[in-house]
Amino acid sequence: MSTHTITVFGGHGFIGRHLIQRLAQAHARIRVATRHPESIRHLQTMGNVGQIAPILTNIRDQRSVEHAINGADSVVNLVGILYEKRRQTFQSVHVEGAANIATAAHKAGVSRLIHISAMGATRHSTSKYLRSKALGEQAVKNIYQNAIVVRPSIVFGPEDNFFNRFAALARISPFIPLIGGGKTRIQPVYVGDVADAIFHCLYRDTQSEHIYELGGPRVYTFRELMQLVLITTKRQRLLVPLPFWQARIIGQLCKFLPVPPLTDDQVRSLEFDNIASITSHTLDDLGILSTPVEGILPTYISRFCQPGNAG
Ligand SMILES: NC(=O)c1ccc[n+]([C@@H]2O[C@H](COP(=O)([O-])OP(=O)(O)OC[C@H]3O[C@@H](n4cnc5c(N)ncnc54)[C@H](OP(=O)(O)O)[C@@H]3O)[C@@H](O)[C@H]2O)c1
Repeated sequence: MSTHTITVFGGHGFIGRHLIQRLAQAHARIRVATRHPESIRHLQTMGNVGQIAPILTNIRDQRSVEHAINGADSVVNLVGILYEKRRQTFQSVHVEGAANIATAAHKAGVSRLIHISAMGATRHSTSKYLRSKALGEQAVKNIYQNAIVVRPSIVFGPEDNFFNRFAALARISPFIPLIGGGKTRIQPVYVGDVADAIFHCLYRDTQSEHIYELGGPRVYTFRELMQLVLITTKRQRLLVPLPFWQARIIGQLCKFLPVPPLTDDQVRSLEFDNIASITSHTLDDLGILSTPVEGILPTYISRFCQPGNAG
């Protein structure tokens, strides 16, 4: 395994950091393809000297993608955006960028390409994010037929974008909005399990299983997840139902902020349940026992606890 070279696009992101750690433990040689090579210094401490190398890449630029892939044995694409900004559109990143990676991987003859999409990705979604994820999957498959597609549900763990955001909101706001009444069903999956799943996809024989939908051991409603945040942070807050149409208006207004906490497109993606389909391949098929939210959440959102109540 130590001679295996893996290029990880988006390796500096939330899931990427966990994957790099997992790969470093297995002594793989890792290239972290990123637009900010200077910021991966802390990742390099996860491996031996020279084991983890940054490589300046923008997946919208085919030449930099080829440079990052040449000589690699396997490729993982973890690049994704939650909202559009200037040239970083869903089409340019999730579809064209993904196609750039598949083209370069195919040309370089890499043995495996793992493409990270998202649960709920479908061409018919009203969410532009989810539509572009479906189109990206298709573009990748058209070029690199044996690419393995991994579709996680909402991913939780230290530095996640979901629980941290609502825990922070609960600290400053007297109420928590239940988007769409809080009825949407979600199957949060632990970031360590997602990293493990990608690791298994890289190393085991998964040729016949090309799409994995990754969810945790339990399905929750949005309301139940908000209740869990409040219980874990020992706060009492009103849970106020907010119809989808009102949440979309708030999302549209938030789009003008430098880092929007919510967009109308994210609200659209919450209009549908986010759970693995019965027929999909899952963590189980990879031999991974999924981690419950309750076991991990207190380890990182307790910093949002009510002062004096932190236990
Ligand atoms: N987190 C979740 O709950 C969740 C759920 C379902 C699916 N996913 C999918 O899983 C993947 C990883 O998610 P994540 O949470 O780890 O995301 P993240 O923390 O936002 O990381 C994404 C990375 O994409 C890179 N990136 C963006 N545009 C780029 C470009 N033009 N060229 C090169 N790199 C670019 C950024 O790296 P640099 O800034 O270093 O270049 C960033 O570190 C994404 O595809 C996401 O859609 C995530």
